[in-house]
Amino acid sequence: MSNPLLEVADIPALAALCKERGIKLVVDNTFSPMILSPIRLGADIVVHSLTKYINGTSDCVAGAVCASDEFIHKLTDINSGASMLLGAVLDSTRAASILKNLHSLHLRMRQHSENAMFLAEKLRELGLRVYYPGLPDHPQHELLTRLMNPGYGYGGMLAVDIGTLKDANQLMTRMQQEKVGYLAVSLGYFKTLFSAPGHSTSSEIPLDEREAMGLSEGLVRFSVGLDNNIDLSFERIKRCLADVGVI
Ligand SMILES: Cc1ncc(COP(=O)(O)O)c(C=O)c1O
Repeated sequence: MSNPLLEVADIPALAALCKERGIKLVVDNTFSPMILSPIRLGADIVVHSLTKYINGTSDCVAGAVCASDEFIHKLTDINSGASMLLGAVLDSTRAASILKNLHSLHLRMRQHSENAMFLAEKLRELGLRVYYPGLPDHPQHELLTRLMNPGYGYGGMLAVDIGTLKDANQLMTRMQQEKVGYLAVSLGYFKTLFSAPGHSTSSEIPLDEREAMGLSEGLVRFSVGLDNNIDLSFERIKRCLADVGVI
C-alpha cells in the first residue's frame, strides 16, 4: 500500500513478472501488516518499519527484513553480510520490547481499520475527496479485497484533499487544538496522527511529478488511531473543517 495515496500493488502479478525475469520482489508492508501477507502472495522479501504499526507506540526506530533463511543468513554473515558490516542490528532490549507490542497487533489493526472506514465514509459524505482503499470506488478496492486476509479491514491510513496547503495547515493546527490527535509525520500510533505529505514525507518528489501523481498540496494524510469513540472524533474533525471554511 503506497504512501500517501494508498494505491495497492498487484503483488501476484508483479511476482509473476519477477519470476519470469529472475528478479527478487521486495514489498514494503509497513502500511498493511496482518492485512496483507506478501510472501504468501509471491513476494521474496518483505520489509517493515517496526517504528509504525508493529510497535504501535511511536517510541522506537526499528525495521525488519523478512525473507528465506538463505537470504537472511547472507545479510547476517559475520564476514560479508550487509547487516553485520553496516551495523543494522537491533539491540536485544528494544527487540524484546517491540515483540511484546507485536502480540496485540491483530487487535489494533482491526480497530485502526474500523475507525478509518468510519471516518472515510463520513468525510466522503461531507463532499470531500477521500482516498481510502476500503471505499468501493477506490481504484484498487477489488484488488485489495481479493488479496487481503479477512478480519483486519482495509487499514488505518486515509488521505483527504483539503484543497490548499494553507487550509491543510490550518486544519491540522485546529485538529491538534481540538485533541483529534497530533500533527506528526509518523503513523501507526494509538492516537490519530496527521501530516501534509506534499510538504513532509513526499516533499522530495518534484512538483510536476507530484501533480502528475495526483498528490495535491492540500492533501492531509491521517493515521487513524484506536479511538474508542470514533463518532466523537469525527464530530471534532467536522467542527475543525467548518472553522477552516472547508465545509
Ligand atoms: C511505508 C514506509 N516504509 C518505511 C518507512 C521508514 O521507517 P523508519 O522511520 O522506521 O526507518 C516509512 C517511514 O515513514 C514508511 O512510511
